Parts: sequence; structure tokens; C-alpha cells
Amino acid sequence: MSNKKVLILYGTRFGATEGVAGKMAELLREKEVEAEVINLKDLQDDRIPDLNSYDGIMMGTGIKIGQWTKEVKKYVSNYKKDLNSFKGPKGFYVCSGYAVLPEMYEKIKVDYTLDACKKLGVTIDYFDAFGGLMDFTETSRMGWLDKRLLKIVSQQTSGMKVETDTYNDLRDWDQIEKFTLGFIELL
Ligand SMILES: Cc1cc2nc3c(=O)[nH]c(=O)nc-3n(C[C@H](O)[C@H](O)[C@H](O)COP(=O)(O)O)c2cc1C
Repeated sequence: MSNKKVLILYGTRFGATEGVAGKMAELLREKEVEAEVINLKDLQDDRIPDLNSYDGIMMGTGIKIGQWTKEVKKYVSNYKKDLNSFKGPKGFYVCSGYAVLPEMYEKIKVDYTLDACKKLGVTIDYFDAFGGLMDFTETSRMGWLDKRLLKIVSQQTSGMKVETDTYNDLRDWDQIEKFTLGFIELL
């Protein structure tokens, strides 16, 4: 064991950000870094983790209509003091449908992570934007309205390769691995 410990906090609606958090934890553990993963939706107000017990913090959120999940927004807003006084590296990632479009990637990467955190008064050190899930199957976490909106948007957006009757995973796992290994270097 490296004796290093990372806290991964995430918010998700459809599961993409959750899957990335799980993959990151797996990669950290492979490198002998301890990883604790918390879905902010499950976090009780009296169980807020003490950031000082960790060497690195990673936060992630899915994007819907340009917005983080409300749990991530609440956590970052409420704990900005603790986050800003944290000594180790702070990472932030988003899962976003538009992140797969080369002409939009850089803007999404900065707007939804660095700039959005800055607007809430929090500084971060390391950030990226990954693609998301577009799940049109029966077992999807997306409701009919989500599916309908997504269908319209994906069909109108050239360069978004999505089949509107199946499970589309637009996450680039090599990108996610590279990002995670880069974060380990910062610990
Ligand atoms: C109704 C709806 C609205 C969405 N709005 C956006 C958006 O504004 N920008 C974007 O990049 N992706 C958008 N997406 C795609 C999501 O970012 C993608 O599904 C991702 O997987 C969300 O992360 P999550 O699965 O962790 O919730 C939208 C998806 C749905 C269903």
C-alpha cells in the first residue's frame, strides 16, 4: 500500500458519472491507493467526510440541460471552505453528451468544471470532460421525456453518433484511465 487515500464524490442521474467513479476507484486500487466512493445523494448531513483524512479529492457530476446534479452543487457550495483549504490535489470531471464533439470538448471541459467551480468560489487543480450515456433501452434510468429530448438533440447534432433505440456509451475509457493516472501522479 502507498498509504495514500482518495475520496471520490459524485452525482449522477443516468449512471455515467457513477461508472466513471467506479472505474477510477478500481484504477487507484490497482496502484495501491485507497479509494472511497460516495454518491452524494446518499450522503447524510451528519456523515460529511472530513477531507483532512484524504490525500486527494475527486468530484464528478453528470450534466443535464447544462446543469450539474443538485447534490454536487449543494456539496460544493456548502463545503467550499473545506475544499479550498484542502492541501492535496482536487480533481473534477463531468460526463456530458457534448463532450464527445471535438469542436465543443475544450469549452465543455473548462465551462462545466473549472469555471463552474470558480463561480461557486472553489478552486480545483485538475479537470476533464468525458462523454456520457444515451440509454434508450427499457431498463434505462432515463424517463420517456429524457429519451425524447435526447433523441431530438442527438439527431440534430452532427457528429453525435447515437442509435436512438439502444444503449450508447460515449465514454472513452482510455481518456478516463489517462486522467486517473495523471491524478495519481499529483498525490
Ligand atoms: C434530458 C437530457 C438533457 C441533457 N442535457 C445535456 C446538456 O445540456 N449538455 C450535455 O453535454 N449533455 C446533456 N445530456 C447528456 C448527458 O450529459 C449524458 O446522458 C450523461 O450520461 C449524464 O451523466 P449521468 O449519466 O452521470 O447522469 C442530456 C441528457 C438528457 C437525457
